[in-house]
Amino acid sequence: MKFFIDTANLDHIREANDLGILDGVTTNPSLMAKEGIKGHDNIIQRYVDICNIVNGDVSAEVIATDLKGMIKEGEALAALHPNIVVKVPMIKEGIKAIRYFTDNGIKTNCTLVFSAGQAILAAKAGATYVSPFIGRLDDNSVDGVDLIEQIVHIYRMYDFQTQVLAASIRHTMHIVKCAEAGADVVTCPLDAILGLLNHPLTDIGLAKFLADYSKTK
Ligand code: G3P
Repeated sequence: MKFFIDTANLDHIREANDLGILDGVTTNPSLMAKEGIKGHDNIIQRYVDICNIVNGDVSAEVIATDLKGMIKEGEALAALHPNIVVKVPMIKEGIKAIRYFTDNGIKTNCTLVFSAGQAILAAKAGATYVSPFIGRLDDNSVDGVDLIEQIVHIYRMYDFQTQVLAASIRHTMHIVKCAEAGADVVTCPLDAILGLLNHPLTDIGLAKFLADYSKTK
């Protein structure tokens, strides 16, 4: 399972990368806005900065919603760095754009996916990644992890190569549940990744080992 970090915050990206477990980064316009990044040039610069930190796929989202606009933006984003993955929304024109990018050797991440039907279309169009938003489903009384399981099952049955990228992860247990469900990738906030470290018995055990070691000096 690959670990991506879901942020445009460079400190968080560096901290996760320094752990030696980071495989990539996902961003979106909301995450850019959260960092106070304003203007097209600054957004582009942030993608470049992220690519210079992390040796792995970096999702950069198109803003256009028409085919021509998405292709123009996506090609410009892909030209920034070989690790850029063009993030395209799950809409009719988006599926056409994913097909175009796939046919032209550009990696894609189909975003805003909330159903197995949408995930089938993304795979048929050749998306590199499909991003089901599990936290937002949970917010609506629908089990997001169930959707991950369903998509993984369908993709394995038909040998679709599209990787299931569990997104909108809100907490550590989501990561564990997505791993059990067979997600290829989880993209998570830094806190959810760091939460994997936690167990009180580890802390108690280490304190005891150190205390007992001091008796041996
Ligand atoms: O990966 C998608 C993510 O950024 C959306 O997360 O918490 O806004 O649903 P959230």
